[in-house]
Amino acid sequence: MEGFDTKLIHGHGYYDEDRGYFIPPIYMGTICEHPDRETGQPRMTERGTELKYAREENVTVEALESAIARIEDAADALGYASGMGAISSLLISILRPGMRVVVPMEEYGTTIRLLEELRKFGVTVDQVWPDTEHVIDALSKPADIVFLETMTNPTLRVLDVRQISRAARDAGAKLIVDNTFVTPYLYRPLADGAHAVVHSATKYLAGHNDVLAGVSAFPDQESARAAWEWRRMLGSTMSAFSAYLVLRGLKSLSIRMERESASAMAIAEFLREHPAVKVVHYPGLSDSPYREVADRLFERRLYGAVVSFELKGGKEAVLRALKRVRVIKPSPSLGGTESLLTYAAMSASGPIAPEVRERLGITDGLLRLSVGLEDVEDLIEDLDAALRDRRVGSDRRPAPHGGVATRRGPSPRGPRTAAPPAPRAIPLCTPRLSPPRAPPPRTCSPRRS
Ligand SMILES: Cc1ncc(COP(=O)(O)O)c(C=O)c1O
Repeated sequence: MEGFDTKLIHGHGYYDEDRGYFIPPIYMGTICEHPDRETGQPRMTERGTELKYAREENVTVEALESAIARIEDAADALGYASGMGAISSLLISILRPGMRVVVPMEEYGTTIRLLEELRKFGVTVDQVWPDTEHVIDALSKPADIVFLETMTNPTLRVLDVRQISRAARDAGAKLIVDNTFVTPYLYRPLADGAHAVVHSATKYLAGHNDVLAGVSAFPDQESARAAWEWRRMLGSTMSAFSAYLVLRGLKSLSIRMERESASAMAIAEFLREHPAVKVVHYPGLSDSPYREVADRLFERRLYGAVVSFELKGGKEAVLRALKRVRVIKPSPSLGGTESLLTYAAMSASGPIAPEVRERLGITDGLLRLSVGLEDVEDLIEDLDAALRDRRVGSDRRPAPHGGVATRRGPSPRGPRTAAPPAPRAIPLCTPRLSPPRAPPPRTCSPRRS
């Protein structure tokens, strides 16, 4: 039996017998010879579809799909132009008028918006409080689909997918799990009976903040084939170039997750002690309300590489921190080599009503940090410099919203002594390397020397 890392590296199964190449190339051609001149028959893929046109099949995308199917222990997997391409194509392939969808109200904003829009086709969408009990309660009424994120965004609640999967099966509902934040390295929902798993491969699977991609994986060929038909009708197929980049990034998934998760844990512990921080959300913290379920589901005792935290100074403190970070970049995504800081209230949770957002813990002071591969000491120093402010008091309050309250006392790292790294000079006519202090020049004039 192959281990997870061997599947990451060799799971694509590509081998050019004529020339001996075993790294999948980028097949940019949209067409191939069809039918085969010799046999007069179409060439077939391993899933039994015809290889003739890139909206349906492409050899590079197929290589990635084989790797994803192997690491998810799935019967088949499909590549899409984006995570939303995977989610929308899958939902549209299953939904019929009159069906009922159960979805926790704290999920990726565009997924919630999509589900709300799908109501116009006669679908009922019930948004429920994002915890295991409420999702299971909602399944006491007939339902057709349950759409979950294993770890919610941005307050990082861990849902007991295993328990919900049993309840969904009893209710006759198909469970679809968006496992973007957790990755198959930590947890594989298909093993617990999910009908499908989806990922924004833009995030950890590709891992380098340089490609937009999505994947879905299925425990049986029939479900995959139905999704495949809709992918070709909707045209949401992944490009060969994207597949190549995801394949390349995928090979280091486990070592990135190990390192980024370890850094995230160190940062969560640091933030918990920081005087400017009110609450830290990270399921790996020993006193997190989600640690127990995370320990049951995540077999490697890693808790992911995203940490959310609420600043005492609210929106003002958030904007100040976003302006001050230097190594960490203020940006909306996650899961790549660069650490990113996201203003949660402005980004992930757009469709949630403001009063519900507050109750969920998505307050005006909440920041989400996606921890990258930089030295953890530099990240901590960058955060410390960005958060320190004389106007922020050192009073502590109990943690609302299930997060972990910060502790009394000064930062264990002591006062910061080093100045933040100065931005580099901006050369004319070249891309900017760091945030500018002054507005960049409007026009680009040729260099004199
Ligand atoms: C959990 C989750 N699912 C899906 C998506 C959508 O993925 P994409 O941006 O690749 O379309 C995102 C994007 O941030 C996400 O965070």
